Amino acid sequence: MEFDLVINGGRVYLDGKFSACNIGVAEGRVAALTPEPLRARMGGTSLDAVGRLVYPGTIDTHVHFRDPGRTDKEDFGTGTAAAAAGGVTTVLDIQNNIPLTTDVDVARAKLDEIAPKARVDFGIYGSVGVQNLDRLAGMADHVVAYKAFMTKSVGPLTVTDLGDLSKAFIALRGLGRVFTIHAESDAIVQVAKEGLPDHIASHVKSRPRVAEWVAVAEALELCREYRVPLNIPHISTGRAAMLVGRAKEEGLPVSGATCAHYLHFTDDDVVAGGAEWKVNPPIKFAEDREILLQAVKSGVVDHVHSDHAPHTREEKSKNFNAVPSGIPGVQHQLPALLDLAASGRIGYEDVGRLLCDGPARAFGLRAGRLYAGSPADIVIVDPAAETVSSPSDLLSKTGHSIWCGRRVRGAVERTILKGVTVWSRSDGLRESVRGTRVAAQV
Ligand code: NCD
Ligand code: ZN
Repeated sequence: MEFDLVINGGRVYLDGKFSACNIGVAEGRVAALTPEPLRARMGGTSLDAVGRLVYPGTIDTHVHFRDPGRTDKEDFGTGTAAAAAGGVTTVLDIQNNIPLTTDVDVARAKLDEIAPKARVDFGIYGSVGVQNLDRLAGMADHVVAYKAFMTKSVGPLTVTDLGDLSKAFIALRGLGRVFTIHAESDAIVQVAKEGLPDHIASHVKSRPRVAEWVAVAEALELCREYRVPLNIPHISTGRAAMLVGRAKEEGLPVSGATCAHYLHFTDDDVVAGGAEWKVNPPIKFAEDREILLQAVKSGVVDHVHSDHAPHTREEKSKNFNAVPSGIPGVQHQLPALLDLAASGRIGYEDVGRLLCDGPARAFGLRAGRLYAGSPADIVIVDPAAETVSSPSDLLSKTGHSIWCGRRVRGAVERTILKGVTVWSRSDGLRESVRGTRVAAQV
């Protein structure tokens, strides 16, 4: 067999565990997975992966790029470049650009705009608001999922009333798409934020843990009633993870995700770091972090995404109240999880489950798995490399990240899309191949 690319000597994440295995790629697909050493055709590429871990390209189910409309903050080219550098070969992009994706015409126009810029595969969410409940079903062929905000975050669209939220569930019934809900209770946030001083320490008080507990409980009960597959993203509290775990045990069609910042940091880091660390939901307490670590290890929380929010350094350096919430992170989820694995908090297999098969299963994507015939979307990592990320490494337009200046054990070495290297640690970004739109079916 003629291989365009071979990867020899690595330990490959296959069906939940690592196997000593060589990979042969032909015409953008995995053509051989074998313990036998493989040779590339004349003019092909041969990679030595001895000492390396080889994962399927990872999936980030929750990024907020800003294309179209706010491409001064992030366009699809820069956002997906950062994704590629982070080992991500599929991103699912959510509103906070202009216009919001509220109907099929906007969805179509957005897809036309972003497709030529995409350096990795992509899908988009439909935005759910009180105003567009009658237009949700019409977008189904163009979106991979839908998203609603139960309280205001950065974007203008919310569904704060439970009656309206139940109407959204009814509108999404039978479409075969996941409903993602930003679950913080508006009523509780409105009360909690009264009279707090203009200081970063106020953030976690203004959006307290109980706001997430109550909203997650409400969303789960609506899922129980209406049976629309539900995703609770960016879980920040231990108790919310436990509620999702219990709902799964009861057989509800629900998935739960958290972000690397909730697994690594606590309120102390936020207060020390200042407004750059302002994010919704706020980073919580040491006890939440411990439960979340257990929850990702046990699978109660089934995947990790970035919630990448590309606010500029200038926007992030205002007074706390004026600073927009959100952290750029699409480039850092895999390194951050490798670091947790290096310290034994989770296993290297867990990293694959949380970034590859977990998100694929949750959203019904045909990605995140390597098998004979699968797309050759592959990431090679060096678990032994110690890296300290700096602003010059960042491919997002933001030029800053809470991950900069931190020692992380484990580094992305090469990201391969459809058999072609799109980014490597030695050569950076390659102008090689475009991402394509993915389909979802749950
Ligand atoms: C995000 C953003 O700015 O896009 N911010 C955040 O704090 N998570 C998304 C959001 O509005 O919640
Ligand atoms: Zn959100």
